[in-house]
Amino acid sequence: MKGFFDTVFHRASVRSFTSVPLTAAEVDSLMRAAMAAPSAVNKQPWDFILVDDRATLDALAAALPYAKMAAEAPFAVVACAVPSRAFERSLELAVIDTSLACENLLLAVDALGLGAVWTALYPEAGRQSEARRILGIPADVLPLAFIPIGKPRTEAVPKDKYRPELIHRGRW
Ligand SMILES: Cc1cc2nc3c(=O)[nH]c(=O)nc-3n(C[C@H](O)[C@H](O)[C@H](O)COP(=O)(O)O)c2cc1C
Repeated sequence: MKGFFDTVFHRASVRSFTSVPLTAAEVDSLMRAAMAAPSAVNKQPWDFILVDDRATLDALAAALPYAKMAAEAPFAVVACAVPSRAFERSLELAVIDTSLACENLLLAVDALGLGAVWTALYPEAGRQSEARRILGIPADVLPLAFIPIGKPRTEAVPKDKYRPELIHRGRW
């Protein structure tokens, strides 16, 4: 397995996948990494829907305009934020905490030699309602991100994002 910095700098959004299914061990590692994320007051206000059913992946790809790549992904995670379990039942904290879990997941995907892309559900009401309809997500749970995952069909090239001019030393 790659080292931490190799993974951080290698990760890039992957939008083209082979049909090779994920193993149970890979899925287990991904979920353990996601749930290892920090969260406010350690509330862990997230749930994850694992999708490997072809018809469901295709239905999501058809319903979500910016997630068409799911039509060739063998697997996906729908990360859901659960405000009722967040500190002070805060929607904002539920979204922040679940986003951190998603980043852990994306890095774990790369570390396993897989690829993934975060596609937005939150804060787009229309996309959230499509995810609710297809996946049976309750009204008080926020579908946050739909993350297709699989073996990359082609190698994604990481972008160089380092911009030292955005760093302020001491004060703004
Ligand atoms: C909140 C969020 C929403 C995103 N939504 C989409 C999306 O709907 N569809 C998509 O193809 N990529 C989506 N992306 C992926 C971004 O386009 C991508 O992360 C960005 O261009 C940087 O590229 P990189 O991930 O390869 O570093 C999203 C990323 C984030 C963090």
